[in-house]
Amino acid sequence: MAAYYPDELINEVISANNLVDVVGSYVKLKRSGNRYMGLCPFHSEKTPSFHVSADKQLYHCFGCGEGGSVVQFVMKMENLDFVEAIKQLAARANINLPEGNEKASDGEYFRKKQKMLEMYVTAARFYHSCLMAEGGKTALAYLAARQIDRGTITHFGMGYSPNEYDALYNHLKEKGFDEGLMLESGLIRKSEKNGKPYDFFRDRVMIPIFDIRGNVIAFGGRTMVKSDGRKYMNSSDSMIFNKSKTLYALNFAKKNCSERIILVEGYMDVISLHKYGFTNAVAGLGTAFTPEHAKILSRYTKELVICYDSDEAGQAAVMRALPILSATDLKLKVMVIPDAKDADEYLKLKGAAKFKALVDGAKNHILYKIDRLKQQYDIDDTEQKIEFVTKAAEIFAEVKNEIEREAYVKETSLETGISEEAIQTEINRCIYKTETAGNKNFSTYKKSAESRQSEADFRAQAALLSLMCSDITVWRYVRSETDLSFFDDSPLKVIASDIYSHSADERPPDFSVAVSKTEDPAVNRLCGVVATQQEVENPLKAAEQIVEKLKDEKRKKLIAEAAAEGDPKKLAEMIKNLKK
Ligand code: UTP
Ligand code: MN
Repeated sequence: MAAYYPDELINEVISANNLVDVVGSYVKLKRSGNRYMGLCPFHSEKTPSFHVSADKQLYHCFGCGEGGSVVQFVMKMENLDFVEAIKQLAARANINLPEGNEKASDGEYFRKKQKMLEMYVTAARFYHSCLMAEGGKTALAYLAARQIDRGTITHFGMGYSPNEYDALYNHLKEKGFDEGLMLESGLIRKSEKNGKPYDFFRDRVMIPIFDIRGNVIAFGGRTMVKSDGRKYMNSSDSMIFNKSKTLYALNFAKKNCSERIILVEGYMDVISLHKYGFTNAVAGLGTAFTPEHAKILSRYTKELVICYDSDEAGQAAVMRALPILSATDLKLKVMVIPDAKDADEYLKLKGAAKFKALVDGAKNHILYKIDRLKQQYDIDDTEQKIEFVTKAAEIFAEVKNEIEREAYVKETSLETGISEEAIQTEINRCIYKTETAGNKNFSTYKKSAESRQSEADFRAQAALLSLMCSDITVWRYVRSETDLSFFDDSPLKVIASDIYSHSADERPPDFSVAVSKTEDPAVNRLCGVVATQQEVENPLKAAEQIVEKLKDEKRKKLIAEAAAEGDPKKLAEMIKNLKK
């Protein structure tokens, strides 16, 4: 874990931020007693399953399983790492964090990251000023020809990289940036011929790429020359930029996208869409659409309308993105743009109202796939018809809602003259085939039977830890009766060691603080158990019962081990101990 502030300070920051208030600033919460419920911000849903416990300062979603403390909440909501989340929470609570007493390695990394961000924003300002200066005339004219007005240029921070070898290099040097960092940033490269540093982007219209908070983390640079082979040059990944996790313009879109996001292919599509009022548009960064992209989108919205370029390459990219998106619970729609190559061109030709109608009329992804399939076959030819319906059944098998499936079956039957029963039978066959593929379900079943016992242990251990934090007497008791070897699950061990090392004063340790300090994803499960625990009347008695149970389990385990080893002496010893 990357903590470089003293523990007491971290604890203070965590305690100063009430989880209910922090969550409340993102999610509308409804109170019932000491619990609050709301719509989960981490997956899209219609009925609330997101649960915040004011007592325990923990949240948990029954729907998607996310859970944690105020720190994990901010980390996930804002895409921050631990230290960044602590910084944000400190600022929120008006707590001053000291500078310069951090652990060397973490502090250095953090400072370097900050410097890198500073360098990128400096570069963005530089490029923008170059666009507005005498040398930027051609670039400005190019943008004007593309109907990109001044307001849009400012909003997106667009710029121009001069046609010189070292304009940015000199500027950054003047501003005091370190040459090593410049080279690491990718903005400056070193010539293999003469070892001289040179600007990576030259004579291009510059489009800054932002992270979700609006920091500049990369650039896309568009050539203004038609024959230039590389239309766009893009920053490569760096310590502040990860292509596969970034969506262009989500920093703007996030304010207006809870109902729907429009996903397009190009920077220019996004810029145009925002200009025409579709401020819920985002784009990938020219590379493949990734599961991370899908997950981020599903956090921000309920419905995704994919609006890629209308050419075959664009449509093929839709087909690649769909299975990745199917893993989320996003409502998926696809719109195909008629009479234009992309959203940008369509808007210029037909205007916003027409585009809006296309978005609203976008087909769901199943019907889109069927439409695409249909284009490949001639339904009047019997053989081709059979093939079409067989393939269509495969697509319908993905639909989980039976009513929806039946509607598709009816329609296909009417269209092809093949009976509904026959189509349904074929769909069932497909479902059966995927379900039994690799005997997956059977092995999951076996595994779940095996893990049932460990689930009970996990719950008992989790409950014990939270009881220790409810009362100092309980803490003292558990501390004297057990040790860390009672916790066999690794995230529990980490949290247990934090709770066990609490210096015994009058107050028990804080469970949510201990939870904050682990980045193990199993923390979700832990918070699910603890946040939903019933209040017990006598915590000490409850703890005693659990300790007894855990001791028992431990003995049994040791005996089983000794028996498996076939060591009669050890076994006899164990059984003797058991009687004590
Ligand atoms: P497009 O060629 O459709 O870009 O590629 P565009 O945004 O519509 O560009 P204009 O309107 O011709 O200026 C879609 C996306 O693919 C990436 C970029 O992210 C672009 O926005 N791309 C494309 C590259 O990274 N490099 C390229 O050479 C071309
Ligand atoms: Mn395009």
